[in-house]
Amino acid sequence: MCGIFGIVVEQEQPLGEILVQAGKRLSYRGYDSVGCATLHEDGSIDLRKDVGKVDEVAERLRFFEMTGRRGMVQLRWATFGTPSQVNAQPHFDSDGDLVGAHNGNVVNNVELRQQFIAQGMTVRSTNDGESCVHAVERYVDQGYDMVGAIRRACHDLEGDYAFVIGRVGEDRLYALKKGSGLVVGLGEGSSCVSSDLPSILPFTRRILRVQDGEIVVLWADRVELRRVEDGGVIEREVETVAESMEVAEKGGYPHFMLKEIHEQPGVVRELLNLFEASAHVAPMVERMAKARHLYLVGCGTSYHACMLGSVYMARLAGRAAIPILAPQFIAQYGPALGEDDVGLFVSQSGETKDVLNALEVAQERGTHVLGLVNVLGSTLMNVSECYLPLACGYEISVPATKTFTNQVVAFLYLALRMGGRDTAILARLPGLLEETLDLIEPQAAALEANLADRDDLYCLGYGLTYPIALEGALKLKEVTYAHCEGMLSTEFKHGPLSAVHQGYPVIFVAGPEDVPLIVSGVNETTCRGGWAIAIGEEDDRLRNNAHDLIRLPEAGPLLSPILATLPLQVLSYRLSLARGYDPDFPRNLSKTLTVD
Ligand code: G6P
Repeated sequence: MCGIFGIVVEQEQPLGEILVQAGKRLSYRGYDSVGCATLHEDGSIDLRKDVGKVDEVAERLRFFEMTGRRGMVQLRWATFGTPSQVNAQPHFDSDGDLVGAHNGNVVNNVELRQQFIAQGMTVRSTNDGESCVHAVERYVDQGYDMVGAIRRACHDLEGDYAFVIGRVGEDRLYALKKGSGLVVGLGEGSSCVSSDLPSILPFTRRILRVQDGEIVVLWADRVELRRVEDGGVIEREVETVAESMEVAEKGGYPHFMLKEIHEQPGVVRELLNLFEASAHVAPMVERMAKARHLYLVGCGTSYHACMLGSVYMARLAGRAAIPILAPQFIAQYGPALGEDDVGLFVSQSGETKDVLNALEVAQERGTHVLGLVNVLGSTLMNVSECYLPLACGYEISVPATKTFTNQVVAFLYLALRMGGRDTAILARLPGLLEETLDLIEPQAAALEANLADRDDLYCLGYGLTYPIALEGALKLKEVTYAHCEGMLSTEFKHGPLSAVHQGYPVIFVAGPEDVPLIVSGVNETTCRGGWAIAIGEEDDRLRNNAHDLIRLPEAGPLLSPILATLPLQVLSYRLSLARGYDPDFPRNLSKTLTVD
C-alpha cells in the first residue's frame, strides 16, 4: 500500500517540510522506503530517497532543504523489488527529464522492463514505479505531449495503480488514476494530488475525486481533468469536504474496523496481482510440496486462516498440511521436527511472541521456516527463509478483518499452484466480495435488534466453513464481549445442544456442498426452540428450515467460505456498536501480543 503526494505552487519556495508532512500523513498505509523529488525553474531536479522511516530518512537526507515549484513524495511498500535505495521512489526516466512515482501494482512490469532495456532506455531498478516513468518517456521520445504520452502509457501499463509525474522546463505536474485511489486538492496558490484525503486536508477542503481512466494536469492556480480514452476534457464540480482529519483517516467510515471490512475487495485484488507477478511464489510452493511434514502455524485469527488453508491444500493439491496453534506446535510436534519438515508461520503482525517462540524451536531443529506476514520489516519477515506479504496495508482495528481474508486468499492461491491448477477462478473474488458487502448490510441490520442483547450464542460450520465459524465466533467475542462459541456443526449434538432453549441463537455457516448436513443441525436446534440463523447461498433447504438466511452471492464451494466471513464481520461490528462498545479497541485485547 504505497502512497503518493504531489504539489505545485506559484513560485520557487521551500517544499521539503510540506512533503515530509504529507509523507507522514500517508504513513498509516504502511511503507518501507521514502523519497522526495522537487523540480526547479532552472530545469534541475533534486531527488532524494532511501529505505527507512519518514523522520529518519528526512533527517539523514535533509529533505527540509529541498526547494522548488513542484514536488512529490512517495512512500513505498515493497512489492516489486526488495526495499532498497535504488528501488525507492520517485524515479527518473533515462536522461533525468522526467521524474515520477506510483502507488499500486504494474503486473506486466517484468515484460515492460525488458522492452525498455531493449529500446535502449536506462532502467535502474526492478521497481514497477520506474516502469510508469519509462512508459511515459517512450511516447515523449516519439514526440507526444505529456497528456498524449500518459494516455498511451496507460494502455501499456497493466494492473491497478496511480502515478504522479513531472517534466523539466514546465510549470505543471500530471497524475493518472487506474485502480488506485487519487484525490486532487485546490488550495490558495497551490494544487496538490494524493493517494488519499488526509494528506490534502491541511492545504484545502476543496477537492476533486479522480475516477479510473482519468488524467489530472495540475498548475498552481488550476487543474484540468482529461479522459485517457480520447484525451477530452472532463468537467467536474469541485467538492468541499467537511470531514474532520480523524474521519478522513478512517476513509470516511466511523471506525477503522468498518473501513477495513470495506477494503477487502481492494486488498484481495492487490494480493492477486502481486502473487501473479511474484518470483517468491514458485520457490515457496516447491518447498512446501517437498516437505516431509508441512505445518501451518499461527495464533488467533491467523490460526483460523491456517485451518482453512489446510482444507484447501488437501482438496486442491492432495497435500496433508497440519494447522496448529503456535504454542501447541512446540508441545505437540517440537520433539518430532526434522530437517525435511517445513513450517509456514502465519501472522498479521509478524511479532506475536507465541509465533516467534514456535519459530525458534523449528529453527533449532533445522526445520525450514516460511512466512506469510502483513507487516513488512517484522521479525517473522526477517527470519523467514522465504516469505509472502499479505499486501493489506496497516490494519489498525484490533480485530483482524482484511488480513484474515488475504491470508485465506493466499492459502487458496498456494494450494491451487501446488495442485498444478489454474488460479483464474480467483479473478472473480474481488467482485464477489463487493457484491457480498452490498447484499449483507441490510440483512445484518435486520438481525441486529434481536441479537444485540444476547450474551451467549454459537456459530457452527462444517468442512470449508468450520474455520469460518471459529473466526466468526472469535470476531463476535472480541468486539461484543458476548460469549460466542465456534464449533464443528456435527459436534453440537454431542453436548452443547443442552444449552438450547426457546429463542437461543445459533448461527450456521453453510457451504454450498454441505447444505444437507447443515440442515440436520438446523433442525436439531429449531425443534428444541432454538433460533437458527443460516449464512449461505440462496437455497430452499436453508430458507425453509432456518428462521433467517443471510444470503451470499453464488460463488461455489471454494470461494463461498471467504464470502461467508463478511456477514460475521459486519454483524460483529454492528452488535459491538449496539452494545455501546468501541469495535476498534476492545477492552483487554491488544493488536500485537509480544508477551508469552
Ligand atoms: C492478538 C490479536 C488477534 C490476532 C492474534 C495473532 O491476539 O488480538 O486479533 O489474531 O494476536 O496475531 P498475528 O499478528 O500473529 O496474526
